[in-house]
Amino acid sequence: MGGLSRRAYILNKIQQEEPGAKLVLDAGAMLFAQPVLAPSLVTARTVQAGGIIEAMAEMGYDAFGLAPQDLVAGIPFLLQQPEDLQLPWLSMNLVQPDSEQPLFAPYIIKNAGDLSIGILGLTGRSQDVSGQQDHSGHRFLPWEKTLGDTLARIRDQTDMVILLSSLPEQTNREIAQRFDDIHLLIQSGQSAAHKTPQLFGNTLITQIGSRGKHIGRLDIDWKPSRTWKQSAQSGIKPIKDRLDRINWQIGRLIKRYGSDPGEQNAQYQQLLEEKNRLTAELAEIEARRQGEEEQLATYRSSYISLPVSLPEDQEVREIIHRTKLAVNKINRSTLGDLQQRRSQVNQQAFSNLAGWQVCQSCHKPQTEFWQQTAHAKAWQTLVRENQQFNPECLICHVTLPTYDQDSVIDQNLLAGLKEEYKTIGCEACHGPARDHSLQPDRFRPAQPDEQTCLMCHTPERDDNFIYSEKLNKIRCPAAGH
Ligand code: HEC
Ligand code: HEC
Ligand code: HEC
Ligand code: HEC
Repeated sequence: MGGLSRRAYILNKIQQEEPGAKLVLDAGAMLFAQPVLAPSLVTARTVQAGGIIEAMAEMGYDAFGLAPQDLVAGIPFLLQQPEDLQLPWLSMNLVQPDSEQPLFAPYIIKNAGDLSIGILGLTGRSQDVSGQQDHSGHRFLPWEKTLGDTLARIRDQTDMVILLSSLPEQTNREIAQRFDDIHLLIQSGQSAAHKTPQLFGNTLITQIGSRGKHIGRLDIDWKPSRTWKQSAQSGIKPIKDRLDRINWQIGRLIKRYGSDPGEQNAQYQQLLEEKNRLTAELAEIEARRQGEEEQLATYRSSYISLPVSLPEDQEVREIIHRTKLAVNKINRSTLGDLQQRRSQVNQQAFSNLAGWQVCQSCHKPQTEFWQQTAHAKAWQTLVRENQQFNPECLICHVTLPTYDQDSVIDQNLLAGLKEEYKTIGCEACHGPARDHSLQPDRFRPAQPDEQTCLMCHTPERDDNFIYSEKLNKIRCPAAGH
């Protein structure tokens, strides 16, 4: 959620500073991280999703795709948002079970400058969605059943058509190949990675990395031909490639003979002939295109990342803050309940830990050094952010014995966390060392390596992790004895 206020800041800036008509779109998969949630998490996450909606409404989006991930809290949750928080959700294939009437607007037509732009939404069908949750209030129609008709309805009223789709990548490509008059397809929820715009037929497909950590920006110079220059030029590329190859071969022959191999060399003659033929062909096509060129649409794409160093939009920041407080309150009470039930399990999981206070007695210099590092303050950071009851954050901001997947997945295990494990203590890096504390000569704790750090310094949390550099900042001093 933290990135939203920075997103708002950037969007504001773009809106204010630069000329040209703008559309602000999101293809969906913003509200929840996955299509199905553990029941114990649903309440808190729904409150969080409410905060995201409020923040997005504040940002003035023109259209929103709905992905299966957005439906975790049910359709009524979306439909019953207060008037001023009704985001322009689009989905042509999310329908009422009986009447097959769309539950949301299938499309919207927006004016951008003197262009009329049709924006359509397709919701990806996900097997998981109908699983744990009760989603009886809706059905998905296959895209084949709706897309053609909807397109036909808006074709004559629009200059450009954009599809927001959370269908799988392969399906999106199929759609692109089939419908030349979808000019831009923005994909969501298919992977964490960006997909640089790529043309399939006359459709540009793109995706911005998952859940709003970046903004994708497309500057488009649209033309009445409704054809991308890159798509019109695709015929030229094979000829150019072939010419490159021939030039290379000719160069190689000249090098081998030390000079022009002359008329005697049949291979050389053949290459020259083909080169002349292709050059003429290319010149002809390009001359023909010259007039056309100006009629073709072009784009420039870029990604804007949202580092913590960016300023934040104050209003959105306020919304996020309020939401975090509410979420934390819910988590606190959920965890409080669990705490009692789980205390038994907890004892076991942490039974091999000593806690940093114990190490202190024998390793004073290292402890004093560690206390100056960010790790010693990691718990304080969560408290400052009001996130100290959020299991999602705890896993990396506390002393977790072994990063064993089971206990991480069962995040509720952290409910009964003892005071001495609240922060990234010695044993997060050196491993459980209770045995060592009791019998230092018999048991030796581990020394961390890069792998140890990467458990928490994941690309998502720290996209600038260079082991050698960061190691220098936190390596404990050698024992001086
Ligand atoms: C009772 C004293 C004592 C306590 C308590 C203690 N240690 Fe040690 N530790 C030692 C001694 C002694 C050595 C060996 C020093 C040496 O050989 O140079 C050692 C060595 C180490 C080493 C270096 C291991 C190596 O292979 O070089 C690490 C790391 C370490 N301790 C971490 C910890 C941690 C973490 C704690 C707390 C959980 C802890 N120690 C608690 C006495 C203690
Ligand atoms: C248990 C999770 C965890 C492990 C393991 C871990 N870190 Fe960290 N690290 C964090 C967290 C969380 C912070 C931010 C703490 C804060 O400021 O609240 C952090 C902060 C830092 C910082 C200061 C901020 C920065 O990026 O400059 C450095 C340096 C660092 N870690 C290096 C390392 C290295 C090197 C290792 C491995 C030897 C390591 N960390 C292992 C979680 C971890
Ligand atoms: C996968 C591990 C991981 C998880 C989960 C995680 N963090 Fe962190 N966090 C880190 C690391 C690593 C850093 C240090 C990054 C750096 O500075 O390079 C960090 C740094 C931070 C900082 C910046 C500290 C400062 O004062 O500069 C804040 C704030 C923070 N985390 C809050 C949270 C919150 C809130 C959550 C839960 C929503 C969370 N983190 C979940 C690993 C994690
Ligand atoms: C973020 C990871 C991290 C944390 C947390 C951490 N250490 Fe270390 N520690 C290291 C690294 C890295 C080294 C150096 C290992 C090497 O040189 O191979 C080290 C080395 C040591 C050594 C061996 C020093 C020597 O003689 O070479 C001791 C003892 C030690 N740490 C104790 C502690 C104690 C006690 C704490 C908690 C108060 C602690 N460490 C917290 C990463 C950590």
